[in-house]
Amino acid sequence: MRAVVLRGERDIVVDDVPDAGVPGPDGLLLRVDRTAICGSDLHLYHGPMTVPGAHLGHEFVGTVEAIGADVHTVRAGDRVLVSGVIGCGVCAACRAGDVVVCLNAGTRVFGTSLELPGGQAEAVGVPAADTSVLKIPDAISDEQAVLLTDILPTGYLGAQRADITPGDVVVVIGLGPVGVFALQCAQLYGPSRILAVDLVPDRLARAAALGAEPIDAADGNAVAKIYDATGGRGANAVIEAVGADQSINDAILCAAPGATVSVIGVNLNLAFPFPVPVALMKRLTFRVTLASIPTTWSALVPLIASGKLHPEEVFTHRMGLSEAAEAYRVFDAREDGVLKVLLDPTT
Ligand SMILES: NC(=O)c1ccc[n+]([C@@H]2O[C@H](COP(=O)([O-])OP(=O)(O)OC[C@H]3O[C@@H](n4cnc5c(N)ncnc54)[C@H](O)[C@@H]3O)[C@@H](O)[C@H]2O)c1
Ligand SMILES: [Zn+2]
Ligand SMILES: [Zn+2]
Repeated sequence: MRAVVLRGERDIVVDDVPDAGVPGPDGLLLRVDRTAICGSDLHLYHGPMTVPGAHLGHEFVGTVEAIGADVHTVRAGDRVLVSGVIGCGVCAACRAGDVVVCLNAGTRVFGTSLELPGGQAEAVGVPAADTSVLKIPDAISDEQAVLLTDILPTGYLGAQRADITPGDVVVVIGLGPVGVFALQCAQLYGPSRILAVDLVPDRLARAAALGAEPIDAADGNAVAKIYDATGGRGANAVIEAVGADQSINDAILCAAPGATVSVIGVNLNLAFPFPVPVALMKRLTFRVTLASIPTTWSALVPLIASGKLHPEEVFTHRMGLSEAAEAYRVFDAREDGVLKVLLDPTT
């Protein structure tokens, strides 16, 4: 079968690899129907987390080919979506969908290690299937379902954990697809204003079209602009969806006294210089979230099925799996107005 393999930094190849199989009695074999590239894949693509030989991809949906003896929630032939993050599958946390706090320290992300190959491939083995997959309801398309495997749940939890109350001023920093979803989910909580921060003009324009007030951070003055726009008060809730040192720092600095800062961007800097005195003097609540994807499905599926959310609108590029190297290059370079890339494993 073909899979997207990371050979080294910025070196992607679509390679013939041994066929995936059912990974054990609790697992299933999935034929992948659609898969997407994520900002998180870029941490592997250009460092600091490069894993040579990894089969990439944690955002995928498909059709069940075969199940292990202990799988009870789905059967062969079912269309399913898979949480990009899984746990052991048997502890109380995993059974509640809260896979990130797996009591057996079993939290894993597809496509980030040699032990758990990813789904940017024709097929993939899915362990702990009963706690990590969802049969896709008829009202949800494959393209919508792909976005339920990671980034819409992440944006949703980023907004939920920002403690937004009606009338609040919200700041969203980073307007990639994760930030766009954080913005749309923040709107579910009734803020009076959302200020949306990025460096890329077309991303700022997209946020404005969604009803937010764009703040251009390209000159490094985002925090001052946020204070100007809020009469010197700052934001009641801040959602950070970049993961850079600079943007996390900005999130803390632009928060009003008593605010909540909710970080969903991935930062891998063990020596991040956290401005504790600022957080102390403003009595901030600081939250950082790796998303327990399955906990969000019961809220997000009805929001999509009813037409309240149209997540598929983030896909700007649809390409074949065979074009993965070019897809990664364009996505990383933010060329051609790209926001999110969908890959079709049949081409
Ligand atoms: N917590 C989770 O569970 C989870 C899940 C998925 C993705 N993520 C993370 O979310 C982040 C965003 O993912 P994405 O797919 O939207 O990525 P992306 O690269 O498409 O978007 C990042 C955006 O941030 C903007 N940006 C960069 N520096 C900035 C700055 N200083 N100020 C303001 N904006 C700035 C970029 O222009 C870009 O638009 C990544 O770090 C990704 O790893 C986290
Ligand atoms: Zn992702
Ligand atoms: Zn567990």
